[in-house]
Amino acid sequence: MTQYTKRIVIVHWLTLALLVAAWFLGDTLAEATDDGRATLAGYIVHSLVGGTVLLFTLLRFYFRSKDGIPAPVGQSPMDKVATGVHYLLYTVLFLLPASGLAIILTSKVGAALLAGDATLLPRKFHGVFAHEVHEMMVTALIVLVVVHMLGALKHQFIMKDGLMSRMSLRKKD
Ligand code: HEM
Ligand code: HEM
Repeated sequence: MTQYTKRIVIVHWLTLALLVAAWFLGDTLAEATDDGRATLAGYIVHSLVGGTVLLFTLLRFYFRSKDGIPAPVGQSPMDKVATGVHYLLYTVLFLLPASGLAIILTSKVGAALLAGDATLLPRKFHGVFAHEVHEMMVTALIVLVVVHMLGALKHQFIMKDGLMSRMSLRKKD
């Protein structure tokens, strides 16, 4: 096998799109909270988009175990770093939605959602550990994705070894 299977490729790129949407929605939500105008719908939509990321990550592991993945491109230290970054990305793809859910369970957001009353929503998340973890995971995600993207660009434009085609729907001949 020289390429990832179609369904793994589709989930990889859909995850990128969902992460961009979840990040935007999360940032908008945090600003609204600061201004005291957060809505229940804002929490629900952000949670659903973020939750879909977790669902896709679980699906991805199932597809990986069924379809297998192509062998690493090489054994150089940089190739090992790239594999390490992939595992760190997977870790963040679990911890980010999990910490999001934990914010809802361990802050007043849960009670506000259950009561259907936006006036119960918290104005601050001081002392909510899960909120700190969620913020740290967002930062970790951004750093890891930038490193991952730079690696892909290096393969594409400097090494010109066709690595991008492994994560593409176009069949290699
Ligand atoms: C996996 C994709 C996700 C991304 C990229 C993401 C991103 C973000 C971002 C950027 C913030 C703003 C952080 C801040 O500056 O305070 C945020 C806040 C938040 N997220 Fe997520 N999130 C994700 C998943 C989830 C999930 C699955 C849930 C819940 C089930 C969730 C619940 C929350 C809550 C409750 C907040 C606090 C909002 C506030 O400060 O008012 N997130 N998220
Ligand atoms: C513009 C952004 C992106 C580009 C250009 C890109 C490109 C690639 C490429 C070419 C591969 C195959 C690497 C190989 O065959 O060794 C790959 C794998 C991977 N990508 Fe991305 N990617 C991007 C965004 C993301 C995002 C946002 C995530 C998740 C947060 C992600 C997570 C992964 C993971 C975990 C793998 C390893 C797959 C496995 O072996 O299970 N990528 N990416």
